[in-house]
Amino acid sequence: MKYLILFTTMLLLSSNTNAQKSAIEKKVDALLSKMTLEEKIGQMTQVDLDAIKQNPDHVTKYYLGSLLCGGNTEIEDLSPKGWAKAYEYYQSLALKTRLKVPILFGIDAVHGHNNVDGATIFPHNIGLGATRNEKLVEKVSRITALEVKGTGMQWAFAPCVAVARNERWGRTYESFGEDPELAKSLGAAAVKGLQTNNLADQTSVLASVKHYAGDGGTTNGKDQGNTECDMKTMKEIHLAPYIDAIKAGAKNIMVSYSSWNGIKMHGNKYLLTDVLKKEFGFKGFLVSDWAAIDQLGKNYKDVIEISINAGLDMIMIPNGPTQNNNYVQFIQYLKELVDEGKVSIERINDAVKRILTVKYEMNLFNNYKVDKKLTSKIGSKEHREVARQAVRQSLVLLKNENNVLPLSKSLKRIHVVGKAADSIGYQCGGWTISWQGNSGNVISGGTTILQAIKNTVSKNTQVTSSIDGSGAEGSDVCIVVVGEKPYAEMFGDREDLSLSNDDIQTIEKAKSSGVPVVVILLSGRPMIITEQISKVNGFIAAWLPGTEGQGVADVLFGDFKPVGKLPHSWPKSMNQIPINVGDKNYDPLFPFGYGLTY
Ligand code: BGC
Repeated sequence: MKYLILFTTMLLLSSNTNAQKSAIEKKVDALLSKMTLEEKIGQMTQVDLDAIKQNPDHVTKYYLGSLLCGGNTEIEDLSPKGWAKAYEYYQSLALKTRLKVPILFGIDAVHGHNNVDGATIFPHNIGLGATRNEKLVEKVSRITALEVKGTGMQWAFAPCVAVARNERWGRTYESFGEDPELAKSLGAAAVKGLQTNNLADQTSVLASVKHYAGDGGTTNGKDQGNTECDMKTMKEIHLAPYIDAIKAGAKNIMVSYSSWNGIKMHGNKYLLTDVLKKEFGFKGFLVSDWAAIDQLGKNYKDVIEISINAGLDMIMIPNGPTQNNNYVQFIQYLKELVDEGKVSIERINDAVKRILTVKYEMNLFNNYKVDKKLTSKIGSKEHREVARQAVRQSLVLLKNENNVLPLSKSLKRIHVVGKAADSIGYQCGGWTISWQGNSGNVISGGTTILQAIKNTVSKNTQVTSSIDGSGAEGSDVCIVVVGEKPYAEMFGDREDLSLSNDDIQTIEKAKSSGVPVVVILLSGRPMIITEQISKVNGFIAAWLPGTEGQGVADVLFGDFKPVGKLPHSWPKSMNQIPINVGDKNYDPLFPFGYGLTY
């Protein structure tokens, strides 16, 4: 009798937990129970388009769970329709598999849907950091999601919540700023904007919060370098933004190339599993960065074992069958590791469950078609209007001697100079169409600063220009637009952040004309301007504003009063870097949070 009661109670309890399982958990369990090991490993495999395009049938053959388009990966037709067509093609291959699990298609939509020709390009995160405006960042990310969904894709590798502590770092502009509070609040706002509060919504896009963790804290600002600090500092500065992102609903996190105290993050079980998944309660899945596990050691099979056991759930693989460390090897080795007992089936099941749970939460099984209404809205006027708002709120006015700004719209002649004055490429920076960006006309649509000035002034105002700074004599004001040539990742690491010689010459020449000079700097970080700013009358840090140069003219001519505040302490010289708010003996050229208005 006693045993019968115990047995009934146990039965009741277990059926109760089964009843408590959510509908999604039940679906995940049911699907998982049907899957072979090969199908499970397929879900954990993410392959770049360049690697798969030789053998597209491999999407079906290997049951791939995800594809991505990396920074330099191109398809033939970069238009919104071209991308939508590519997406539909690859998705159709996934739907040919036995279990018809749709692929998640990921792309670096880091300042708008920036691989698509004609898309709306927003300021890079550093500029959004200057706005201090959560609502705006949410709106910007919402529009990005609409444009991403317009090409069918459902996963943006954004936001980057790195806290950039050393401006030598080539990814400083991908960070919202040097203070973790910015990455916490604006990172969470970006997650909300991309995902809404309902991942299953037709217009929601899965966010990938990156790069976990410490990417912005490396010694000397070296990209993919080593972050040296104790756990307290790590938590307060670099881990904190993830807690807010998870609260905002983040279900995917990308792991950082960097190391923490000498241990590569991709092999760091403590920070990936114990801290992130257990302590912070992260229920989503972890994706590796581009070929990042390859850096864990020489033997590919060993590094797969290390990274999966550390807690990685999906591996991003850029290599195809003719290259080393390719996806066919990955699949084969992971299978062998399970057979050999080196990676447990529980670990595999956990990873696949996490991935499938997100796919169900996104309603991906029913919701994988391209919404053509959204395709036609990519780069629309309404979307660009939001980008323009973001641009004008992101500008930081550093100097305004004798109220040289705002300018009157009815001056007789405005002279505009500098290599960046008529260049969408300089405005957009890296991660625009190509990985490194391009200083020319990188993308269709948008307005350069020169065009925007012409659009704004009265009919009788003459706008003249030169690239080298010559010809300003006799004009009412000379506007100089200079800045950093586009770059991305390690290609932007710098030991010297002085303005380039040609930019210095341009400013000198403008100054020698004797007319008032206003400099607009397009850069991915504070630069060393101590000497130049002392010589000119006005100075605006415009960061990397993207396609909508009209937002710059809005501020120049006083249609919008500057509100931007520095997201970084502005150093006087290279010797001061790293310099961050709260440092001892803090004496920057301009402090964190500085910004004038009219
Ligand atoms: C970058 C990531 C990016 C990935 C895919 C890597 O090189 O570190 O930020 O999401 O490439 O393009």
